[in-house]
Amino acid sequence: MALPTLPDTARGSIALYTGAVLLLFYFVTSLHRRWSQYRFAKEHGCKPIPAFPIYDPFFALDRLFFMVKAAKARKVLETNALRYTQLGDTFRAQRITTPVIMTREPQNVKTILSLKFHDYSLGDRLKVFGPLLGQGIFTSDGEDWSRSRHMIRPNFVKDQVAHLDIFEELMDDLFALIPTDGSTVDLQDLFFGYTIDSATEFLFGHNVRSLKKRRSGVVDNEPDFPKAFNYSLDNIVMNSRLGALMFLHRDSKAVEANRICHDMVGQFVDKAMRVREKYDEEKAAGETEEGRRYLFLNGLAQQTGDRTRIRDELMNVLLAGRDTTASLLSNMFFMLAKHPEVWAKLQEEVAFLEGRGPTYEELRNLKYVKFCLNESLRLHPVVPLNSRTAIKDTVLPVGGGADGRSPVFVPKGTIVGYSPWAMHRRKDYFGPDAEEFRPDRWADLRPGWEYLPFNGGPRICVGQQYALTEAAYVTTRLAQRYSVLEGRDPGPWEESLTLTLSSYNGTKVSLRH
Ligand code: HEM
Ligand SMILES: *[C@@H]1O[C@H](CO)[C@@H](O)[C@H](O)[C@H]1NC(C)=O
Ligand SMILES: *[C@@H]1O[C@H](CO)[C@@H](O)[C@H](O)[C@H]1NC(C)=O
Ligand SMILES: *[C@@H]1O[C@H](CO)[C@@H](O)[C@H](O)[C@H]1NC(C)=O
Repeated sequence: MALPTLPDTARGSIALYTGAVLLLFYFVTSLHRRWSQYRFAKEHGCKPIPAFPIYDPFFALDRLFFMVKAAKARKVLETNALRYTQLGDTFRAQRITTPVIMTREPQNVKTILSLKFHDYSLGDRLKVFGPLLGQGIFTSDGEDWSRSRHMIRPNFVKDQVAHLDIFEELMDDLFALIPTDGSTVDLQDLFFGYTIDSATEFLFGHNVRSLKKRRSGVVDNEPDFPKAFNYSLDNIVMNSRLGALMFLHRDSKAVEANRICHDMVGQFVDKAMRVREKYDEEKAAGETEEGRRYLFLNGLAQQTGDRTRIRDELMNVLLAGRDTTASLLSNMFFMLAKHPEVWAKLQEEVAFLEGRGPTYEELRNLKYVKFCLNESLRLHPVVPLNSRTAIKDTVLPVGGGADGRSPVFVPKGTIVGYSPWAMHRRKDYFGPDAEEFRPDRWADLRPGWEYLPFNGGPRICVGQQYALTEAAYVTTRLAQRYSVLEGRDPGPWEESLTLTLSSYNGTKVSLRH
């Protein structure tokens, strides 16, 4: 069949007509959307909020430039906190073309993370973290996330005491790497080694022995997992900074690093699958599981036979758990080294142990150790900034109007950023000395949502107890062993903002018996 040929003029007017209809359609739908949003906002009593001054209304490139400048000066968090003081506790801005609302209002944060949990998603986290992490507890949303969470969580409540054995074994490696002749050591570097060793032991039942390798100086032929993992993380940080411009950055070395990480974890998964088969046989033969050391990985393998799934979940938990605890210890020891009176009090508290490692019960009762951990997480929260993306039109309870007490309209697609860093420094909650490191303040602090180092609501950190136990254990053992902790860093603490927040200059100290 041949199409009837139209004269050119007729074809032209059809195209023009179609174009006009489409334009009209677009115009009417966006007008309708505007109208229903206006009504929705009005119904909820929403009022306008202060705006971050932006001079490039299209791509907000001036804001981007401003942020890059702050990053270079290692003052992203300080600059961001200052904005709240200038503009108010909730204000709006723009990221390239996406509307952004920033808040440090506990009530708003509670609304995003808990009360209206279902109105928000993680935004483009899966896109950024996917190449290394795949789909897992840390990267997924909705039903997928719910399934992951159910699978992961039970593995954290089992047998807390067993972890202490792992921590104690690794203390020998840590002690061996700390000189006591008055020379300077970077504890941050050692803490990162300690936590990758303990996390791989806890998760895979196989420790990558990074501290042991450093002790002996032995180089083996195994691909360097910590290095590859490190590289993959740097790539993620890069991509998350680029956001929508991520496609501009293709790094073949990152692809290789991801492969090394996947292979290494894959090996352990294979081993666990063999254990699973054996377990099924034993169960059939009427034997029990007792006496076998509990293993996170075996716990997962008993719940699913999907290897990729297990591998991805392990990667997710490793990412969430490694740098975080190491950063906490590094930040805290940086401050402890500047406060000898706090170090002395810690030593007093642990003296009753007479040099042996604490039991789980004893650890739980070390109040001053906890004050110090809480205070470090307050002043230098390891996850200092975070965000969610609205997946429907929704409302925040406060921040609108001249007094900031009216609700705020959040159109679908808006990124709502919140800042534990800025919230933890609010003088109205933590007092005029909120910027100072003073563990004793915890003697009578009982904060609500204004203190949020581990997040809150359904997605609260699953590793919180594990992390606090590990950090308290290491702190206790170090305080027992070294009477002097001396800072070798003349300057103040400065931010290093990657996936987690740590000290830019490391933790340079000298320790002596
Ligand atoms: C000082 C140490 C730690 C801090 C401050 C911390 C903080 C956080 C925060 C703020 C989140 C929420 C992220 C978000 O939803 O956007 C989170 C989630 C998570 N954390 Fe931690 N974390 C720490 C240690 C750990 C450890 C040691 C593990 C595991 C061994 C762990 C496992 C997880 C997991 C799996 C999630 C995702 C939970 C979910 O989305 O359902 N964390 N953590
Ligand atoms: C990990 O990367 C950081 C910089 O991104 C570097 O300082 C550190 O030495 C690296 N660690 C390892 C084990 O390669
Ligand atoms: C540390 O902070 C948590 C979370 O707010 C709080 O529940 C706990 O009581 C604090 N611990 C101490 C010892 O103050
Ligand atoms: C970082 O550490 C070195 C010592 O290793 C010190 O000379 C330098 O002043 C420190 N930087 C700051 C900003 O304190």
